Amino acid sequence: MSIEVQPLTPAFGAEIKGVDLVSCSAAEFDGILEIFSEYGVVFFRDQQRLSETEHIDLASRFGEIHIHPAARGREDAYPGLLKMKTNKESTVAAGNRWHSDVSCDEFPPYASILQLHETPSSGGDTLFASLCAAYEALSDPMKTMLDGLSALHSGEEPFRHLFKFQNHQAGQGWPENDHPIVREHVSSGRPALFIDREFTKKINELPKDEGKALLEFLFGHTERVDFQCRFQWTPNAIAIWDNRCVLHHALWDYWPEQRTGSRVTTVGEKPVAWRLSDHSKVQKERSSIRLTA
Ligand code: SIN
Repeated sequence: MSIEVQPLTPAFGAEIKGVDLVSCSAAEFDGILEIFSEYGVVFFRDQQRLSETEHIDLASRFGEIHIHPAARGREDAYPGLLKMKTNKESTVAAGNRWHSDVSCDEFPPYASILQLHETPSSGGDTLFASLCAAYEALSDPMKTMLDGLSALHSGEEPFRHLFKFQNHQAGQGWPENDHPIVREHVSSGRPALFIDREFTKKINELPKDEGKALLEFLFGHTERVDFQCRFQWTPNAIAIWDNRCVLHHALWDYWPEQRTGSRVTTVGEKPVAWRLSDHSKVQKERSSIRLTA
């Protein structure tokens, strides 16, 4: 079976054809990983409906399974599997705001693997935005200003809202962690603007008002259409995205219709800052090598 890659935009996002994610060989999976690492988010249509075990097995090929804070401490046959269901009774829809999954965790997620089982007759698309493209598009003075800054990511507001989160009473609060605003992507080495409207609450090194204004600008910047791709779902299609460099937003424009699916996510590493000084040194060394060669 030959794998075909159809890019969605020049910047990122690709549909992969000619592969069955359950039965693909180790060599085919390595090929998929390479494409995933290049495109940041990949899509597969015409897949079989995954059982809970198949979904978790597929995700395990990307790494350790992440347990969502709302599922921690719960007796559950599949603690890593998050079921999604939105219909006419819903008052909120999961993921209906730009975010990187659970970016408030100390070790925020790497890959999220989402399969939708039922899709509305139209709408219910998921939008994705490249955080590397967003960083690259900033001006040099803005990059200098962001260099070395960190932000607080908190699960309090979204998890209270979405999950009627109770764990904090037992002393197991929602996660809150500081992460660098400019993060180095471990595989590509590229800088990514690691902030999102759902979880990022303040910039630690700035006075409240300055931080709020800067965050508002950065949220709007990451959400610009220039850095986006969009997936129109078909039943049993699968999307896999890299939360370390991609935001997503699930549109809830299909009420009163129903949309259902399941997501499994894997654990990423603790974010590390990408510093201008380190990279300008590399640039200087590269230019001196060129001058002396
Ligand atoms: C999410 O994982 O945040 C939801 C994505 C979706 O339902 O499209």
